[in-house]
Amino acid sequence: MNVRTPFVLVNFKTYLQSTGKNALKLAKIAEKVSLETEICIGVAPQYVDIPKITKEVSIPVFAQHVDPISPGRNTGHILAEAIKEAGAVGTIINHSERRLKLTEIEKVIKRVAEVKLISLVCIGSPRLSRKIAGFHPNMVAVEPPELIETGISVSKVKPEVVSRTVELVKSVDPKIVVLCGAGVSTGDDVEAALKLGTEGVLVASGVVKAKDPYKVLLEFAESITKV
Ligand code: G3P
Repeated sequence: MNVRTPFVLVNFKTYLQSTGKNALKLAKIAEKVSLETEICIGVAPQYVDIPKITKEVSIPVFAQHVDPISPGRNTGHILAEAIKEAGAVGTIINHSERRLKLTEIEKVIKRVAEVKLISLVCIGSPRLSRKIAGFHPNMVAVEPPELIETGISVSKVKPEVVSRTVELVKSVDPKIVVLCGAGVSTGDDVEAALKLGTEGVLVASGVVKAKDPYKVLLEFAESITKV
């Protein structure tokens, strides 16, 4: 399953609306919008929900985290190989709700590349952009933690954070895809993100907690088509 840009990744986190049966239902909605609009939409469910989604739905599936470990004695950890075998195509790394140390981020990026998964590293501000870009992940998402789940989009209220991250990351490695997230909830927010130089968005509550996630995703996709 290929990831194309512009890319919308819906992080399911641990909301009940996106857990278990609901995770599959929401992934099918994302697939429907993706098929109807030809915009690439992926989902990042909890680990246990990955296999049932990859079995039934043909959109990119990401894990929410992978640990900096190799196969062996690591009880309770998440192994890159296991995510791969479950059918995921990539993983989020260092989300602000699942932080890692810099050395661990570097190690996970390497491990993930070894098993041919896509690495998407989250950063909270442009501060570490160049350092992280030097580890050459496939994607970086800038998400100021204070805007997460607020419905106030980073692309609208902190445009300089987004454009600065794009500039810094691309100055180190122009191949890295840059996304932004936090508070993204309307088509206008997505359009603003793309106009700032990103190649997509990482979103959670604006879709997962919406009364009608289909409508929200369709609005996102239509605004991408417009840009
Ligand atoms: O990973 C996406 C996320 O942290 C943004 O959350 O709820 O503001 O879209 P939200």
